[in-house]
Amino acid sequence: MTVVGARPQFVKLAPLSRALRRHVREVLVHTGQHYDREMSDVFFSELALPAPDRHLGVGSGPHGAMTGRMLEALEAVLVEEGPALVVVLGDTNSTLAGALAAAKLGLPVAHVEAGLRSFDLRMPEEINRRLTDHVSDLLLCPTPTAVRNLAHEGIRHGVHRVGDVMADAVRLWLPRARRRRPAIKGIVRGAYYLATVHRQENADDPGRLAGVLEALSSLRHPTVLPLHPRTAQRMEALGLKAGGLVHLVPPQPYLEMLRLQSEARAVLTDSGGMQKEAYLLGTPCITLRETTEWVETLRGGANRLTGADPRRIARAVAAVERKRPRWDPRLTYGDGHAAERIATIIAAAVRSRR
Ligand code: UD1
Repeated sequence: MTVVGARPQFVKLAPLSRALRRHVREVLVHTGQHYDREMSDVFFSELALPAPDRHLGVGSGPHGAMTGRMLEALEAVLVEEGPALVVVLGDTNSTLAGALAAAKLGLPVAHVEAGLRSFDLRMPEEINRRLTDHVSDLLLCPTPTAVRNLAHEGIRHGVHRVGDVMADAVRLWLPRARRRRPAIKGIVRGAYYLATVHRQENADDPGRLAGVLEALSSLRHPTVLPLHPRTAQRMEALGLKAGGLVHLVPPQPYLEMLRLQSEARAVLTDSGGMQKEAYLLGTPCITLRETTEWVETLRGGANRLTGADPRRIARAVAAVERKRPRWDPRLTYGDGHAAERIATIIAAAVRSRR
């Protein structure tokens, strides 16, 4: 049984589910953490994801309430379906709920993207990652750093370095993404920045959100800013606006985001997934956070941490404009065949329980 619920998980699910279904029967559960058409349905249709077998419809809420509703609903589904193993991905509340519900029922858990650490426990995602790793039986790590992080916490059994499933997704879909016609008016290939901001630490802190918007509004090239619902709600409540050359657009589907990232002068983001996608696509990234779990991307200036300070952001953009860094992403995140390795490991674990 695979448990997903939030946007970044749908992207990882695409290569994974294809590979898994070549080996085992997969029951797909959608928690309903993300439920808008733009945040969920469009990914299922665009990436031809299998329809969820179960949809829990938990919706939004504070962390405790959301995770609690997921736990209760997942426990019932797990008891009914009796899977041989439960797969969770990434670091969202849906990841934690899936892992915890399964582990408490004595079911083995496989965590895809295990071992990542930002070492900042104020991030809900860091709490989710750590707890999930500590109740998982199979820890499917994208990088050697992730393997080392687990070893430091005493986790050595069931650890596999498999490469990165997002590299698989880029390999599968970049050719199609590149053939798309630009969908946003006034945006010319190679002549714009792409920005996103949604992390709790930025969106829910008025000073930081204002700092990011000020920085984006002063950029000298047009900046596409697809607005996550959390950020849209906060901007509205605080009366914050983006000015300058910022184009506010709704959340974009995956293929459009791939195209936008691959053709941008730079990506400015607080997303974990986009830091890595930008790296895989050869686009410099400026990360609007103080830490990153994708530490490999920092080498050679491919990615720069600036927090939400407008001056630091402006300096990082100027540095990237002066000299565009170059790197080879394959050395870090694998060959784009992680999903097949993961599926083989999971299939062996499932067979050993029969
Ligand atoms: C979640 C993940 C984060 C991931 C992000 C990607 C956690 C702790 N965080 O953050 O790691 O990077 O997804 O998007 O799980 N909302 C809608 N429509 C939706 C979904 C959400 O309007 O379809 C609104 C909710 O009402 C809520 C806000 O967006 O106010 C935040 O949603 P939530 O799922 O709590 O967290 P994200 O910020 O999306």
